[in-house]
Amino acid sequence: MKKLKVLMASAEIAPFAKVGGLGDVVGSLPPALFDLGVDIRLVMPLYGSVDRKKYGLKKIYSDLEVPSGRLFIKINIWEAVLSGTKIPVYFIDAPEYFDFDEVYTHGDNSERYLFFSYALLHALPAIDFAPDIIHCHDSHTALIPDILKVSNFEYLKNIKTLFTIHNFHYQGKAKLPVLSTGNLHINSLKTLTKDAADGDINFMVQGVLNANFVNTVSSTYAKEITTSAYGARLDNVIRQRKEDLSGVLNGIDADFFNPENDKYIFKNYSEKTLENKIDNKLVLQKRLGLPVDKNIALVGLVSRLAWQKGIDLITKDFSKLKCQFVFLGTGHFEYEKHLLKLSHKFPEQFSAQIKFELKLAQEIYAGSDIFIMPSRYEPCGLGQMIAMRYGTIPVVRATGGLVDTVNPRLGFSFKNVDSGEFYGALEKALDVYYENKSLWRAMQKNGMKSDFSWKRSAGDYLKLYRKLVFK
Ligand code: GLC
Repeated sequence: MKKLKVLMASAEIAPFAKVGGLGDVVGSLPPALFDLGVDIRLVMPLYGSVDRKKYGLKKIYSDLEVPSGRLFIKINIWEAVLSGTKIPVYFIDAPEYFDFDEVYTHGDNSERYLFFSYALLHALPAIDFAPDIIHCHDSHTALIPDILKVSNFEYLKNIKTLFTIHNFHYQGKAKLPVLSTGNLHINSLKTLTKDAADGDINFMVQGVLNANFVNTVSSTYAKEITTSAYGARLDNVIRQRKEDLSGVLNGIDADFFNPENDKYIFKNYSEKTLENKIDNKLVLQKRLGLPVDKNIALVGLVSRLAWQKGIDLITKDFSKLKCQFVFLGTGHFEYEKHLLKLSHKFPEQFSAQIKFELKLAQEIYAGSDIFIMPSRYEPCGLGQMIAMRYGTIPVVRATGGLVDTVNPRLGFSFKNVDSGEFYGALEKALDVYYENKSLWRAMQKNGMKSDFSWKRSAGDYLKLYRKLVFK
């Protein structure tokens, strides 16, 4: 069978640049596709923060002129491989747009990512790669299908597009004049004309309507976004693509997230040496300044601190539960403040670490007994899968990917966005933890034995790719 050529375009790819789960996914799915025989390559912007030396970036093309609107913008193209693989990663180097330390700059990012989308298509001949499919991720690259539809270039004619939605709430909006950055106009396509009627262009709408196929990162979320409760005001738009919409569950990098050889944690362990897990708890309690006590349950949270994540459902009432809490993450000021307040009020019970630190995250996955994700919505969620791999039992709200990954053999869940229900689910979990050690052990082992690797889902992506190219 013909080898499929796929170019994945994303604003984030770990380890080069990552803000959230998007970066993790685009950095860890490709090796599984490569193993299935796909000629997979990646492309992202060259941000100022990408460590060119560490990752061995090489400049492969200089001063390519990209006709963007009325300007010719010169770009360079750099290349590296995805760490530990042979998968090429191309970097679009346009300093005026990307030479900043943060991935997402403050204010409007629409022009930056429209330029990226346009420039990467323009760069294909220079890279000498003729993909069958461009796999676009999230709103940043959602205008690629529009550009392809409008373009007259022969080499772009047969390219199919897959649009993966990692988070339907981050939609990306552009003022109408921004369209010219990608040589688009409100009359270029009917979908643009209609979209422009309210004074701006919604990138998510364009991706949903113009990609050849659309998927999201779990089956439950794929269904949820067709309803008004989860549709982020675009449920009517997504319903138009019902026939071309599916859910493909994310995986995790099962080699990296492995308690048996994780180099960040104090003591390695496996399902067979689970008794060693406890040493990680003792070290963590000490590091956090919590009372060091192997008998008290430690509850962990590692998360972006955003509305989506239900951080506000954790209230001071939770101090009545017989457990300790550790929170790690950054985000919205109000949630950072909320968690810090709890830790100041109950220093023996709550520890709030307002930062991101990979080592501490790993220590929390390994050292905690319970991992919480009280999300309002969760397209897939990676933390619960990582936690289960470390024998840490998830307590989650039953939504999106959390429904598809956590069942009663593996963890606990609650139904409504309600602090009392969350409290009740945690109480239930703690009850098993203290009163039914053998059931707890069995649940831990079930999680550690589950397959959360990409192998499972890469096959589903391959099927989608084949459908697009050979149908
Ligand atoms: C977003 C979603 C999260 C998902 C991740 C990767 O961060 O919020 O649920 O796991 O993207 O797809």
